[in-house]
Amino acid sequence: MEVKTSLLDNMIGVGDMVLLEPLSEDSFLGNLKKRFDHSEIYTYIGSVVISMNPYRSLPIYTPEKVEEYRNRNFYELSPHIYALADEAYRSLRDQDKDQCILITGESGAGKTEASKLVMSYVAAVCGKGHEVNKVKEQLLQSNPVLEAFGNAKTVRNDNSSRFGKYMDIEFDFKGDPLGGVISNYLLEKSRVVKQPRGERNFHVFYQLLSGASDDTLRKLKLDRDFSKYNYLSLDSAAVSGLDDAANFRTVRNAMQIVGFMEDEVQSVLELVAAVLKLGNIEFKPESRCNGTDESRVKDKNDLKEMCELLGIEQSVLERAFSYRTVEAKMEKVSTTLNVAQAYYARDALAKNLYSRLFSWLVTRINESIQAQTKARHKVMGVLDIYGFEIFEDNSFEQFIINYCNEKLQQIFIELTLREEQEEYIREGIEWTNIEYFNNAIICDLIENNQNGILAMLDEECLRPGTVTDETFLDKLNTICADHQHFESRLNKNSKFLNDHSLPHNCFRIQHYAGKVLYRVEGFVDKNNDLLYRDLSQAMYKANHSLIKQLFPEGNPAKVNLKRPLTAGFQFRASVGTLMRNLQTKNPNYIRCIKPNDKKASHIFTDSLVRHQVRYLGLMENVRVRRAGYAFRQPYEPCLERYKMLCKRTWPHWKGPAREGVEVLMADLQIPTEEISYGRSKIFIRNPRTLFFLEEKRKQCLQDLATLIQKIYRGWKCRTHFLLMKKSQIVVAAWYRRYAQQKKYRNIKSATTMVQSYTRGWQARKLLRELKHQKRCEEAVTTIAAFWHGTQVRREYRKFFRANAGKKIYDFTIQRIIQKYFLGLKSSMPSMSPIDRKWPARPYGFLDGVHTELRKIFHHWRCKKYRDQFTEEKKAVYEEKLEASEIFKDKKALYPSSVSQPFKGDYLEISKNPKYQKLNSAVDEKVLLADVVNKINRANGKGTPRIFLLTKKNFVLADQKTGQVKASIPLPDVTSVSVSTQKDGFFALKLKEGSASAVKGDFLLSSEHLIEIITKLHRIGATAADREKLKVDISDEFLVQFKQDKVCVKFIQSSPKNGNSVSCKRKNNRLLEVSVPTSP
Ligand SMILES: Nc1ncnc2c1ncn2[C@@H]1O[C@H](COP(=O)(O)OP(=O)(O)O)[C@@H](O)[C@H]1O
Ligand SMILES: [Mg+2]
Repeated sequence: MEVKTSLLDNMIGVGDMVLLEPLSEDSFLGNLKKRFDHSEIYTYIGSVVISMNPYRSLPIYTPEKVEEYRNRNFYELSPHIYALADEAYRSLRDQDKDQCILITGESGAGKTEASKLVMSYVAAVCGKGHEVNKVKEQLLQSNPVLEAFGNAKTVRNDNSSRFGKYMDIEFDFKGDPLGGVISNYLLEKSRVVKQPRGERNFHVFYQLLSGASDDTLRKLKLDRDFSKYNYLSLDSAAVSGLDDAANFRTVRNAMQIVGFMEDEVQSVLELVAAVLKLGNIEFKPESRCNGTDESRVKDKNDLKEMCELLGIEQSVLERAFSYRTVEAKMEKVSTTLNVAQAYYARDALAKNLYSRLFSWLVTRINESIQAQTKARHKVMGVLDIYGFEIFEDNSFEQFIINYCNEKLQQIFIELTLREEQEEYIREGIEWTNIEYFNNAIICDLIENNQNGILAMLDEECLRPGTVTDETFLDKLNTICADHQHFESRLNKNSKFLNDHSLPHNCFRIQHYAGKVLYRVEGFVDKNNDLLYRDLSQAMYKANHSLIKQLFPEGNPAKVNLKRPLTAGFQFRASVGTLMRNLQTKNPNYIRCIKPNDKKASHIFTDSLVRHQVRYLGLMENVRVRRAGYAFRQPYEPCLERYKMLCKRTWPHWKGPAREGVEVLMADLQIPTEEISYGRSKIFIRNPRTLFFLEEKRKQCLQDLATLIQKIYRGWKCRTHFLLMKKSQIVVAAWYRRYAQQKKYRNIKSATTMVQSYTRGWQARKLLRELKHQKRCEEAVTTIAAFWHGTQVRREYRKFFRANAGKKIYDFTIQRIIQKYFLGLKSSMPSMSPIDRKWPARPYGFLDGVHTELRKIFHHWRCKKYRDQFTEEKKAVYEEKLEASEIFKDKKALYPSSVSQPFKGDYLEISKNPKYQKLNSAVDEKVLLADVVNKINRANGKGTPRIFLLTKKNFVLADQKTGQVKASIPLPDVTSVSVSTQKDGFFALKLKEGSASAVKGDFLLSSEHLIEIITKLHRIGATAADREKLKVDISDEFLVQFKQDKVCVKFIQSSPKNGNSVSCKRKNNRLLEVSVPTSP
């Protein structure tokens, strides 16, 4: 398998010093320089990263780079701080090991930058999400806040951390950040009141004055001019490449993100302003009567403004600068302060104010960023502590800082050099010891509880009597005289008596990183860290919540007469805690090296780097690494991790883990010189081998995943198949059942059909046979019967008359008919033709005869009746019959005429003498004589006339005189018109052209209309020479009057208009006759 390692290929120099050949200090430096010149600032010694400060920004921190290093093997890519961060993060996430990143190096070597790079990398690769991003942002934004308040420009570094910082970032099991805890170590507070030449006070002062708005400054009673403030050194107020104003905005923004309230920010700024004001307070002596000088505040304006800012009563603070109250054994003694003491008090107050503010800030940030859940979490600690410092003038602060660096070097030695070698011995690995310098002895010189420098300083501080820095030095001189690493002019050891580089008021310590000369001046004071109680009480009284919080000891209710803990003691204790904390975690080292003292890029000062390489023990580090093994692991986890690489150990190895690992390594054909088997651990010499194992494991895991996937898929498919099969069987069973049932039903019905046909055929056959048999039997019976009949008749003919039955029948019928006729005779109806009675018939078969007889009887009865009539009566009936033929159902007047006998001569003309003359005028026999009304054609009024009818003509005569008015021969009358109604109007129409027709037709009215017309008709019918008289029955007819034809129209009128018929002439052509309807 090809091992991809850019660590070995295409590398400038060597990426890992372990691979350096030949190994010497020169080649080591040469490699570093070569790489530095090619902008390769990172180099490994095994898993330790050496970082050279490039003093310029390099394009190697881009998001693409982050992605490149993410989840990659440590040795896979070229050395980078990201590789270390990734390794630490993955080990934390995947192997559940708490991590710490230890960043060491001298001031300006790039520690702070490195810590920020680590944090930003972890932030970039860990989980995402709204909550997580907020946590990340808060963690990252805590940096600018702390840097503004805790960093300053020094001669070594423009952004030097003046406090130690250890940050624990907490993660959940998924590797998402939950929060963090920051611990701060001893802020270099002396910087607040005084800065060495060429250095600045803390950044925040400059940032505030340059970046705050005019309004804010006015509120804070500040002036933008740096020179107005005593505490701000002027010689390097503006630093090139440092934009204070912009940084101020960044800090304000960061404070907001971290979660500072607006009023909290305001309070913080007020305190910063107060410190500046405090520096401007000056004192003047005022002689007192006892000859001593008492200090007085020179210009009270600054004091006043400061008191206003913090809400302190001016007089209280003023007094605290002039008097000091000492309490001892329930006694209070008040002494005056001279000017020097007043300045001391002022500076002490400023320092305390600032350092307490700083600690408060850290606490406040912790409140914001602390993890919200109590769930178990993993921790990654990042330690960025001030680097080793050697200044011209080193004081208590440098002493403390360098002590801390000694401790860190100690832990490095402990964990990488000594621990490693000891482990080889413990594990029984063959090992040639490598010499290295163990700085435990220097740590002991400083921190030993009995005669350590810090312990003696505390002793001096607590000792009654006059205590000065000199008495402290004396003490050191007596106690530490014999220590190899302690040097002093006044030492009994004559070695230094003539060493003029060692002044009298100084002592020198040979640190692991070099000799440092400390001036004792201020050691006692700074260790005591004394703030007069009057001042802390004055502060406590302030009407400002933050100030009050910062000076809890000023509370008169809680006066504590005990001395406060010394600064040295506190620091030693916190460093002790830190070291213990670090020891529980898996260390990752970043060793920062500074290439030059000029803060310049591209300059590689050989001597400076050589010095750092030496004191950092990097050569020893490489040697131990080269002699030793890159990787070790107890057998059990090793076997557990790699057992899948060998068939014999996979999946379970039965037997001791060590044998398992041996089998495994043998199987993988790892060369024997590459590995050693210790008592409880396996040691792997080359990272390549480990990388090979890891690569194989990764491959194998993929194969295993495939296998699991394969088996799972197989199982899934099989299960599915079995299910399908089972289902298929069920379906098939049901289907077969159904098919068989269907088939069975078909066969059954076919069978039934065949059966039924067969049975039918059989039955029919049987029936035929039976019928035949029956017919035979019947025939036989018939034949037999006939035969018997014939036989019997033949035999009995002599005993019976033939056809007796018919005779009996005929007789019976005759008898019945006889009885019927006799019965009919006795119940005959009367002889009246209108009698409708007729007896009922006794038998149905007589129906026809019965009705026929009735008809015959009726005709006979009618004949008998008619035979009784005389000739006259006969004529009358004939006339009536004719009237009926003409009018029945045609004219409404007819029914009333039926019962009236046609009298004919109503006037008795032959008898009445009145009409004698008239009678004589008529030669024929008068058939009808009556009075009629002749209708006047002009007005429709009637005039009575005598109407005579003979066989030949009719005559109209005056009723009174009997004078003949008109005599018309009957042949001239062609037709008669009458209405259908009950009136008696009739028009006699004359033949056109005849003599009688000259005067026109006659319109007459008579009560005996029916009789008149019937007689007229009869005459016409009997005369052979004439045509039959035509009778028109209609409600509208025309009458010829002279020349005009007038229409006579009959209408029905209601009876109320009078009961008589009225005739009116309507116009020339219309004569209207209204006939009342009979009720
Ligand atoms: N990786 C880096 N890339 C670019 N510049 C760097 C890098 N590390 C350090 N520096 C420069 O060096 C200066 C000092 O670094 P810093 O981390 O503050 O030192 P230390 O904390 O060790 O005192 C920084 O202000 C920066 O200008
Ligand atoms: Mg720093």
